[in-house]
Amino acid sequence: MTNYNLSEKIALITGGSRGIGRQIVLHLADSGANVAFTYRSRKEDADALVAEVQAKGQKAVAYQSNAADHAQSNEVVQQVIKEFGRLDILVNNAGITKDGLLMRMSEQDWDDVIQTNLKSVFNFTKAVCRQMMGQQAGKIINIASVVGVVGNAGQANYVASKAGVIGFTKSIAKELASRNIQVNAIAPGFIETEMTEKLNEKQKEAILGIIPQKRIAKPEEIASVVCFLASADSNYITGQVLCVDGGMAM
Ligand code: NAI
Repeated sequence: MTNYNLSEKIALITGGSRGIGRQIVLHLADSGANVAFTYRSRKEDADALVAEVQAKGQKAVAYQSNAADHAQSNEVVQQVIKEFGRLDILVNNAGITKDGLLMRMSEQDWDDVIQTNLKSVFNFTKAVCRQMMGQQAGKIINIASVVGVVGNAGQANYVASKAGVIGFTKSIAKELASRNIQVNAIAPGFIETEMTEKLNEKQKEAILGIIPQKRIAKPEEIASVVCFLASADSNYITGQVLCVDGGMAM
């Protein structure tokens, strides 16, 4: 439960059906927002989440789409605006990893990660721009990563995509500031989701060693920060990268 008042707000979250995105959907709904979210493949999970949000008394719609696809992303945004009449909050959350040392990284692994993590942010942000400019208000929140700030061996594609998201965030924040649209990024550290489940015990131990708070976070701990950045409480914050990482980058 959060203390932010987002009643009457319409939010769109990419990759909302599981992990961090799922908690973002639930927290925004708990704050009073009606939510639309996209998902890639697991329809049952998406349907269950729609029902969960509706049980809270909020409106929810799920769209199956590939965030890396420009035309599909634009289509989703147009449908959301048609369905809800406006769009106040965009959370660019969809993301993947395809880790490997550069020597072994294939062109496909590079392209897939850049398209899904970085191009998707361009796709959705461009698609919502006109609507938010017309409203003279909007909140765009991009989920980057702490490794996009400090780098990480074995993740050159992922790190490049997240560093790209950070640069994109700052540039668009400058472009849209005068229109009362705030654009910020969150850089999570290590969060308990399917993405980090893939790590072996040795990798997890090494990670704990570099987190001053000595623990991996829950997705809820990112979702509550999204609610803050989506709320009027953060109206004078734009172009920032908020590290939510237990102290990894400071
Ligand atoms: P996850 O693997 O549990 O969920 C990823 C979500 O993205 C899923 O809902 C999936 O359907 C969606 N997705 C993936 N490719 C897509 C595509 N092409 N089109 C539409 N949706 C797509 O991952 P998690 O951990 O919840 O990650 C969410 C975001 O947080 C990602 O951007 C990730 O890079 C970022 N992040 C995660 C961290 C972690 O430790 N779990 C740390 C730092 C950042």
